[in-house]
Amino acid sequence: MNLKACIFDLDGVIVDTAKYHFLAWKRLAGQLKIEFTEKDNERLKGVSRMASLNIILGIGNRHPDVRTKEKYAALKNEWYVDYISRMTPDEILPGSVKFINELKKAGIKVGLGSASRNTPLILERVGMEDLFDAVADGNIVHKAKPDPEVFLTAAKMLNVDPRYCIVFEDAVAGVEAALNAGMMCVGIGSEKILTKAHFVVSGLAKMNIEKLKEIEERIKS
Ligand code: BG6
Ligand code: MG
Repeated sequence: MNLKACIFDLDGVIVDTAKYHFLAWKRLAGQLKIEFTEKDNERLKGVSRMASLNIILGIGNRHPDVRTKEKYAALKNEWYVDYISRMTPDEILPGSVKFINELKKAGIKVGLGSASRNTPLILERVGMEDLFDAVADGNIVHKAKPDPEVFLTAAKMLNVDPRYCIVFEDAVAGVEAALNAGMMCVGIGSEKILTKAHFVVSGLAKMNIEKLKEIEERIKS
C-alpha cells in the first residue's frame, strides 16, 4: 500500500454533529421566516458558518447588512454550542475509534480536516483530544471547502505528500476539496449524493485495513 495518511472530516464522519448544525440553522431560519428543509441542509454540510448563513439567506431572498449577518451567525453558534457542550463519547459514530486505532497500529498517520471552529470543544467533549496526529480546523484555515486548504494543511502537518492521503468526507463540498487537493476520497453516506467520491461507504464501521487496501487498489487501477 502506498497510502501514508488518512484525513477525516469531523462533522458527520467522526461525530454526529450534523443534526445539531441542522437544528440550530432551522431555528434561525424559523425566526427569519425562511423555509429551510433537510434537502437544503445538504448544501450547508462542510461549508463555513458564514457561507452556510449566506445560503439560507439566499433561499429566503434576504440581503441584510454585514453586522446583522454577524449577529445571526453568532446566534446560531450560541444554540449550536449549547447542543455540543452536552455531547458525550456516545455520540462518536460507530467504528471511528476502532478504525483510527487500527490505522495507527499499521503505521498510517491520522489527521483531522474540518471547517469547524468548534473542533477543539467537540474533540474535548467526546474524549478525542489526543487521538489525531494533526488537526487542521476552521481556527487555522480560512478558505472554505471546496477549497483544498484544510486538507493540504493537514497533510503538511503530517508531513505526507497529498497523493498518499485518503480523505473521508460526508459533504459534497468536502469531497470536492479532497479532489482539489489531489487526494483520494472515500465518501461517507450515499452514492447518490457523493457522486464525485472515488468510493462510498455508509460509515466508518464498514472500514478496516483490508478494505482500505482494496479501495486504494481500485482507485489506482
Ligand atoms: C463543518 C460543518 O464541519 O463545519 C458545517 O459540516 C459547518 O455544517 C462548518 O457550518 C463550520 O462549523 P462551525 O462549528 O465553525 O460553525
Ligand atoms: Mg462533514
